[in-house]
Amino acid sequence: MKVQYFDLKNKRAVISGGASGIGSSIVEHLCEQGVEVYFFDINKIEAQKTLKRIKSKNFKIPTFIKCDVKNIKKYRSLILNIIKRKGPIDILINNASNDQRHNLEQITEKYWDERMTINLKHYLFAIQSVKKSMIKNKGGSIINLSSVSWIRGAVMFPAYSTAKAAIHGLTRSLARDLGKYNIRINSISPGSVATQRQSKLWLNTKLKKEILKNQCLKKQLLPDDISKMVLFLASDISSGCTKQNFIVDAGLT
Ligand SMILES: NC(=O)c1ccc[n+]([C@@H]2O[C@H](COP(=O)([O-])OP(=O)(O)OC[C@H]3O[C@@H](n4cnc5c(N)ncnc54)[C@H](O)[C@@H]3O)[C@@H](O)[C@H]2O)c1
Repeated sequence: MKVQYFDLKNKRAVISGGASGIGSSIVEHLCEQGVEVYFFDINKIEAQKTLKRIKSKNFKIPTFIKCDVKNIKKYRSLILNIIKRKGPIDILINNASNDQRHNLEQITEKYWDERMTINLKHYLFAIQSVKKSMIKNKGGSIINLSSVSWIRGAVMFPAYSTAKAAIHGLTRSLARDLGKYNIRINSISPGSVATQRQSKLWLNTKLKKEILKNQCLKKQLLPDDISKMVLFLASDISSGCTKQNFIVDAGLT
């Protein structure tokens, strides 16, 4: 990372789903800037790989907390415990999601509720958990990972896309309430990003080719492309930005 955000040093950040994929890259980028990072995830093995990589680069070492963010009671109490022990949260990144494929016919009530729980519900309760400490801190930055899937009308996961659209609704709906305390809240909507999971499950040569054809920029997006936007929104460099959706999709939409 060539850019240094001096104001981020020693800030405190919480991120969900930081063990792998885009989340892992975000954790690394924040640690490189000297941020005190707490990342929540269910995947201990991937979390350990992230910790090892960050240690080998001599960045600030983050703290991994094993937690299923679908368990709202536990997730909330763990966030509140960080605040109690360490102090206010400056940056919250809501990132954990699951983009399992499904079609309209396959959706049952149970599946719908489950998709909303993993892709939307914990975002709101994490925001609720950090709000008081951010007010005390006279400000903060909340970043919600959405997706361009709902803008594109992608057909392969309607429940996931609905939750991702709602995330932007959540961002806009809370911006005024939070704004009076100098708490900024924005969404980031990534396009097609080659994470390990995407490459293993769906991003084959044919799909890659099709996406590149439709993008304005003819390059495969990587997790770093999203992390760079996260750093910008986390830092005071973006002090005038709130209530917005920042699309990082190489011009796909
Ligand atoms: N990769 C893409 O192309 C892409 C595109 C658009 C939007 N996004 C969004 O970016 C964000 C990150 O996506 P990604 O591709 O890195 O995802 P990913 O599936 O690769 O990683 C998600 C992380 O969240 C963790 N996680 C999943 N369920 C959890 C749970 N119940 N509790 C705690 N942790 C849990 C996983 O273990 C994993 O470490 C998501 O919000 C996603 O919707 C990604």
